[in-house]
Amino acid sequence: MEKEKRIVVETINLTKIYGDGVGVRALDGVSLTLYAGEFVAVMGPSGSGKSTLLNILGALDLPTSGVCKVNGQDLAKVKDLDRFRSKTVGFVFQLHNLIPTLTSIENVEVPLQEESMSNRARRERAEQLLGLVGLSPRVHFLPGQLSGGERQRVAIARALANHPAIILADEPTGNLDSKSTAEIMDLLRQLNREQGTTFIVVTHNLAVARAANRIVTLRDGRVLRDERVDNAYLVDLKEFKESTLGHAILDGNVPPELHAIGLDKVAEQVKAVLEKV
Ligand SMILES: Nc1ncnc2c1ncn2[C@@H]1O[C@H](COP(=O)(O)OP(=O)(O)O)[C@@H](O)[C@H]1O
Ligand SMILES: [Mg+2]
Repeated sequence: MEKEKRIVVETINLTKIYGDGVGVRALDGVSLTLYAGEFVAVMGPSGSGKSTLLNILGALDLPTSGVCKVNGQDLAKVKDLDRFRSKTVGFVFQLHNLIPTLTSIENVEVPLQEESMSNRARRERAEQLLGLVGLSPRVHFLPGQLSGGERQRVAIARALANHPAIILADEPTGNLDSKSTAEIMDLLRQLNREQGTTFIVVTHNLAVARAANRIVTLRDGRVLRDERVDNAYLVDLKEFKESTLGHAILDGNVPPELHAIGLDKVAEQVKAVLEKV
């Protein structure tokens, strides 16, 4: 049964132009409604406006025009943006941005400093968060003593600290090998399912998009596609489309080996399917 969905992000005609006059139109009329509990992958080629969108949602940047509401708050009307950021949004970046001189647990305690909590309660919460991301054995390690994947786990624990309405992650696995990428994505998916955390994750990695239940594709600052991944094969089809064979079929060049099994006869139908994904 369809659960009642709470809107956590609403943008209307969001536009961002960098520079003046004929500046770069990084976002060009983006209207999106995102719901609590969704796991949204934002995809698209480099320069398509993904980071700009994320930065505006996290109040790190201002739109040139259009409306941006996060958790019911119109960001143009929010007086204290620092407070908004610390209460409502958790950030995870490609480079983890941990403080190098603080241990894992101390890094996770940083966003909890503003909370009226005892030191002991703060420590317990940070410990619990590090447990949630599977890092209990590393609580007293410095970032320099951790692997890339472990550092990203600390960054995720830190992002979760204040129970944010949304977690914004900009290419969170961009610096990781494929094994660590898969582990981090499993973790994000698990947090999404078990804790109901809402994720908006920028990526151009289809393996990462596999964790999502919705894929928003940007091109030239516009929403090119916005699709729900209730079709388990969608990501596979996208991957196939980008493979050598997928390209060959799209270009009408079915390799001779595949003529033998009659693929050339169905190539037109396969091509039509691939063109839509
Ligand atoms: N601070 C900036 N000043 C000028 N142009 C920018 C700035 N940030 C991004 N851009 C431009 O805006 C467009 C979108 O950038 P970005 O949002 O970073 O794309 P993506 O994250 O999809 O690669 C690009 O053309 C980029 O060069
Ligand atoms: Mg970017």
